[in-house]
Amino acid sequence: MDFLKQIALPQSEAQIGVLYFVLNVIDILLLPFLSYLFGALVVSLYHHRKGRLQNDPLALRYAKEMIDHIIPNKSILLLFGVVPFMAMTFAYAQLLQDTAAISVGILTWGLLLLAAAAAFASSYKTALTFTDMLSAVPAKDNDQVEQYKEQMRETRRTSGKYALLFLIAAVYCLIAGRSLAVHPNQWDSVSNAVQLLLSLDVLSKSVQFVVLSFAMSSIGMLFFTFSWQGGTAHMTKEYAEYVKGAALPVGLVSLLLLPLFTVLSVVLLPVASLTATVFFFAFLMILFVFLASHSVYGMIKDFKASYAAKAFYLFTLAVIALVLHGTSALAGATKTSSAVLAHRYVLHHEQLLASMGINLAVLTGEEIFTAKCSACHEFGAKKVGPAYKDVLPKYESDRTRLVTFVLNPMKVDPAYPPMPNQGLKPAEADSIAAYIMTMYKQQK
Ligand code: HEC
Repeated sequence: MDFLKQIALPQSEAQIGVLYFVLNVIDILLLPFLSYLFGALVVSLYHHRKGRLQNDPLALRYAKEMIDHIIPNKSILLLFGVVPFMAMTFAYAQLLQDTAAISVGILTWGLLLLAAAAAFASSYKTALTFTDMLSAVPAKDNDQVEQYKEQMRETRRTSGKYALLFLIAAVYCLIAGRSLAVHPNQWDSVSNAVQLLLSLDVLSKSVQFVVLSFAMSSIGMLFFTFSWQGGTAHMTKEYAEYVKGAALPVGLVSLLLLPLFTVLSVVLLPVASLTATVFFFAFLMILFVFLASHSVYGMIKDFKASYAAKAFYLFTLAVIALVLHGTSALAGATKTSSAVLAHRYVLHHEQLLASMGINLAVLTGEEIFTAKCSACHEFGAKKVGPAYKDVLPKYESDRTRLVTFVLNPMKVDPAYPPMPNQGLKPAEADSIAAYIMTMYKQQK
C-alpha cells in the first residue's frame, strides 16, 4: 500500500505549508462528521433495540431521527466522509514520502473500510425509513407488505451492525496511522498496524474519539430537534421529553470527560511536537468545551431552545480547536522530514537551472565552514562543540541525516550545550555536509 508514497512529488517549503492548510480544512470536515456518525450509529442501534423490546415508539423515533440528522441524504457520506479521507491520505503520502513510517498504508486501509462503512450506513438509513413507512400500512391480508417488512428488518439488523463494525476499524486506522505520523521515534520499529494497538497514544485517542462522538451526537440531536429551522416537525410533548432525557445526560457527561483526554493527549506528545501553538489550541478547546457544557447544564436546569443552538456552535468551535491542535502537533513532528523534503526540492530546482546553464551563487563548503562552523568546531579537537572526528563516524553512511542535523540541530550529547541553528539554506547545508565529511575521511 506504499505506492502512494512513490508517486509523491518533491515539495517546496511553501507547498508543505499549503499541505498543512489543506489538512486543516479536511479535518474540519472529517473529524466532526466521523465522530457524529459513530455516535449516531451507536445511539441509534441502542435506542432501536430498546424500542423493539419495550415496544416504545418514542425510542424508535429517536433511533431513526438520530440517523436522519447526520445522513440527510447519501451524498453526505461521500462528501464529508470518503472524499476528505481520501484527500487526507494523499496529503500524508506527500508529507511522509521520505520516511519509513507506514502511516500511509494504514490510512489507505482506513479509506477502504470507511467506504464499506458508508455503504452499510446508507442501507441502515434506508431500512429505518422503510420500516417506519411500512409500519403505517396494515399488515392484514397483505402478504407482500409482510414480506417487505421482514426483508427490511433483516437489512436493518445486519447493516446497522456492519456499519458500526467497519466504522470502528476505519477510525482505528485513522487514529493509528496519524498517531504514528507524530511519533518519528517509532517510524523504524513499527511495521504493521496491529503493533499500534498497544500504544498508549492510540488508546487514549480512541477513547477521546468515543467521548467526542457521544458529545457530538447528543448535542447535534438537541440542536436539530429543538433549534435548527425551528425544530423537528410533528413534535409531541412526550417526544421532546424523551429527547431531553436521552441526550442531555450523555451530552453533559461526555463534555465533562473531554478536557481530561485533551490534557492526556498533550502529555503523551513527544517533546519535538510540543510548541506554543499546540498548547494554545488545547487550551482553546478546553475553554470552548467548558462553555458548551455550561449551555447543556443550562438546558437541564431550565430548558430553552436557544441553549441548544449555543451549545452546538460552541462545541463546533471546540472541535475546530481540537483539529488545529492536532495539525500543529503533526507540523512539529514532521519538521525534520519536511526540511529534508524542502532540501530535495531546492536541489532538484538547482539541477534544473544548471541544466539550462543558469548558475546560482552558493557558498562552497569550505567558505561556510570558515564563516559559520569554525568558531565552535575543529576536526581533531573539542571546542565549544565536539570534534568532528568524534561525531562524524555515525553519519558516514547517511549524509541525509547529517544535512538534516545541520538544518535543524537537535540535542544529542548532554555534555554539550545545544547547537544553535546556523540558518543555512538546504543547498548550503548539503555542501557543508559534503565538505566536512570529505575532510574528515581524508584525515582519518
Ligand atoms: C555556537 C557554536 C556552534 C556552531 C557555530 C556550530 N556548532 Fe555544531 N555543535 C555545537 C555544539 C555545542 C554541539 C553539540 C550538541 C549536542 O551534542 O547536543 C554541536 C554538534 C555538532 C555535530 C554533531 C551532531 C551529533 O550528532 O552529535 C555536528 C555534525 C555539527 N555540530 C556540525 C556543525 C556545522 C556543520 C556547523 C556549521 C554550519 C556547526 N556545527 C556550527 C556548537 C556549534
